Amino acid sequence: MPGGSLEIRNLSCLATPRGRAAAGGASQGAICVFAPGALRIDDGRISFAGAEAELASKDLAPVRRIDGAGKTALPGFVDSHTHPVWAGDRAAEFARRLAGETYAAIAAGGGGILATVRATRRATRDELAASTRRRLQRMLRSGTATAECKSGYALEAGGEVKSLEVLRDLAAEELPRIIPTLLAAHEIPPEHRHDRETWVSEIADRIVPDVAARKLAVFCDVFCEEGAFTVAESRRILESARRHGLALRIHADELALSGGARLAAEMGAASADHLLFIGPEEIAALKRSGTVATILPGTAWWLRSRRAPARELISAGVPVAVATDANPGSCNTESLPAVAAHACLDSGLSVEEALTAITLNGAAALGLAEETGTLEAGKRADVVLLDAPDYRHLVYHWGIDLVSATIVEGRIHEF
Ligand code: NIG
Ligand code: FE
Repeated sequence: MPGGSLEIRNLSCLATPRGRAAAGGASQGAICVFAPGALRIDDGRISFAGAEAELASKDLAPVRRIDGAGKTALPGFVDSHTHPVWAGDRAAEFARRLAGETYAAIAAGGGGILATVRATRRATRDELAASTRRRLQRMLRSGTATAECKSGYALEAGGEVKSLEVLRDLAAEELPRIIPTLLAAHEIPPEHRHDRETWVSEIADRIVPDVAARKLAVFCDVFCEEGAFTVAESRRILESARRHGLALRIHADELALSGGARLAAEMGAASADHLLFIGPEEIAALKRSGTVATILPGTAWWLRSRRAPARELISAGVPVAVATDANPGSCNTESLPAVAAHACLDSGLSVEEALTAITLNGAAALGLAEETGTLEAGKRADVVLLDAPDYRHLVYHWGIDLVSATIVEGRIHEF
């Protein structure tokens, strides 16, 4: 249930992108700034967001008031790519990577995603719920009001469904809003190494229809990559997903130019994610299809890989979202502010573009731009309060948690 009424007055700064659709090109960096700013929330919706003087002149019914002096209000962050349902950890693998082994070599030796699959299969439902809940609490602590959450570490029909059921049950708790994604096509499970076709058919013909019928997922995702799923396998799974009413997203061109971004454009996916290896033709295809380009700069940094061509995407008018990719093997963080710093300092976004990337464009990547992602009257009251005088501190003052409150649909969580 949404909370009651609330005003945040005399904010040092209120900064927000505008609109109900993804912002690409020059509009990605064109945010609105009010200083001093004010915000009013009624019944879980924003009823005013703008200049303090304007709200002061309105003479509205009195409500609970928070003093915003010294604080900045931003739209609640939208993390449009996370993998939070897993057990165990890969700290030992991380140490091996620091000592020089590559992610691919560790995976080829039975580590990587399959190491987490072994631990996740062993975990009870309660253990999985407890570790996922802690990750979602950390997201909330870092300003995330909406999180896309993928399955993908069970790689067997029952376990993938169990992961999605854990997410369904957590959706009733005081956490970020959860948008569930089926990612049974995260990897070929070890028992199907020599008959991968069986696993692809099981996903396309059994898991997708079952998950869709039970409304356990909104999206279907595929890791379309050399060593994971080919373009033909990915297309087959995504066609089934589309037939059964799931929306589409793709892990695309993360490790090589594998055809994932082209497939995302061809199939009208909501988002193509990673994109480290795409070139001008893939960028043009994403622009034509209206697919959001979700870059994961924390992952590129964590894997010491190349960067996605963010500036080229923005120049071409493709809306860019930034997400954490929160997962145990290639980027173990739940913090969008941490990843926004990488988006700016490694991938060349301005702070304004990064803010749009973790709010409005993240929402658009989830089909939610009409509902959230900006501070505008009529939208859901998803808000972040930073303990900072100006929105630029989101990136400028890095490595610590500046979030003093996250408001999810009018409900305030203070830290
Ligand atoms: O997005 N690319 C596939 N999945 C993750 C890695 C997951 C893992 O290593 O556990 C990613 O980078
Ligand atoms: Fe991922």
